[in-house]
Amino acid sequence: MVSDRIRMASLRDKIVSAEEAASYIKDGMVVGMSGFTRAGEAKAVPMALADRARREPMKITLMTGASLGNDLDKTMAEAHLLSRRMPFQSDPALRREINDGEVMFIDQHLSETVELLRSRQIRPIDVAVIEAIAITESGGIVPTTSVGNSATFAILAEKVIVEINVNQTMALEGVHDIYIPSRRPHRQPIPITNPDDRPGLGYIPVDPAKIVAIVETGKKDSTSNILDPDDETEAIARHLTRFFEGEVAAGRLGLSLQPLQAGIGTIANAVLHGFIDSPFKDLTMYSEVLQDSTFDLIDAGKMLFASGSSITLSKARDEAVMPNFARYRDKLVLRPQEISNHPEVIRRLGIIAINTALEADIYGNVNSTHVNGTHIMNGIGGSGDFARNAYLSVFVTKSIAKGGAISSIVPFVSHVDHCEHDVDLIVTEQGLADLRGLAPRERAKLIIENCTHPDYRPALQAYYDEAVKRGGQTPHCLEKVFAWHLAYKDKGTMKAAF
Ligand code: COA
Repeated sequence: MVSDRIRMASLRDKIVSAEEAASYIKDGMVVGMSGFTRAGEAKAVPMALADRARREPMKITLMTGASLGNDLDKTMAEAHLLSRRMPFQSDPALRREINDGEVMFIDQHLSETVELLRSRQIRPIDVAVIEAIAITESGGIVPTTSVGNSATFAILAEKVIVEINVNQTMALEGVHDIYIPSRRPHRQPIPITNPDDRPGLGYIPVDPAKIVAIVETGKKDSTSNILDPDDETEAIARHLTRFFEGEVAAGRLGLSLQPLQAGIGTIANAVLHGFIDSPFKDLTMYSEVLQDSTFDLIDAGKMLFASGSSITLSKARDEAVMPNFARYRDKLVLRPQEISNHPEVIRRLGIIAINTALEADIYGNVNSTHVNGTHIMNGIGGSGDFARNAYLSVFVTKSIAKGGAISSIVPFVSHVDHCEHDVDLIVTEQGLADLRGLAPRERAKLIIENCTHPDYRPALQAYYDEAVKRGGQTPHCLEKVFAWHLAYKDKGTMKAAF
């Protein structure tokens, strides 16, 4: 019963239909919704809004934690409801609208959105829509499978709509830790010195008078669409495992390494999964998305504790984990994304950050977001939060894409998300380039030799040799830096450039 989950009895008469709740949201408003990498998103109100937008055209600015499940970004994009969207998305239909210039997409470091809101550097939130498992006796909102930006959205919004999802397990209660940093300047240090520290509350503290509507829902989260490890991702995992074994042998790391962060997607998940067959033990995570590999490592007895902002699982893993969630609860914490991704905490804990590149160049600049320099894929997400502040910033990618028509190692990346100064290691199935302490010319040698696919290696070496003849700290043939990208655009393969 939904009313059992509303423990502040006076709020029970706020239960309304999704349509009625959505009527609080007007044309032109800024709406903050829960949801982070397909987990814990508000599910009914966005659908009701999209229905309304199909009947009577309206536009909103939509902020979330990250991407939404249940095709909600698709549904809202196709109803032409969205004028502005931030800070992350991963939906093909929305991606099309963004690349067509229909939706203004503000691609942000995930830790920063609520800082901008709190300091009123961007337009304030009118209405927050938050999925919850329950409302506490004091009116606190207990989130579901993600925290994302929900806490600050609810605290700052003028009005709050709560979607109580009766099919999200109550065993989630106790897994959240809601810590909100104090105001700047003169902010106090964030009191987290270990991944399992819990300085916050188990619920989002809001003024109950702001809760204008409560909607009962029951739809499940979408499951993740990551693929199983393949030969290439297993090779990447092997190279990284060997690298970490070397770090342990050199006395720079212990067998428990340092807290791990792994980015979204198939490759990063596969790399972490590879740690199951490694000598490492007593691992911890301080990451943003807890994927299948986190639970695989916990089950294998390899991981002691994982801190994140959301739980996003494949169908098979979801069916195994969620009914038995109580078993995992004391090994996990879900935090607001500004805390899971906070530069201060990442630097303090000494995180090993493993994120995925679309492409990297011979000096170690990384593009994680734009296909062929112009078209957005998903967004920078948390990769920048972690890469810049990590103890060790690793980028992984397969050396080729689209059946070999694209080399992921190029003369110059066509868009820069992570500059050479933020990248310590590049790993492809071909090998690993350890760039620490190296000058650009030394970096180029390693990246070309160790990471580039053999089909592209001689051409990349030839490009570099010609560039070196022209001199410079970071040699380039400026008229040729995008020749490979242009060849792909015009002829369908980068190989047409040489
Ligand atoms: N140029 C064009 N397309 C490329 C490419 C390149 N250099 N390299 C890969 N691709 C394509 C692949 O072919 C694939 O396309 P498909 O979906 O049509 O098959 C797609 O990009 C995804 O690549 P894949 O190799 O399957 O990697 P992935 O699922 O691990 O995703 C990113 C890779 C970069 C898109 C993803 O990790 C991302 O969005 N990262 C940015 C956000 C982030 O890092 N967050 C981390 C903190 S959680």
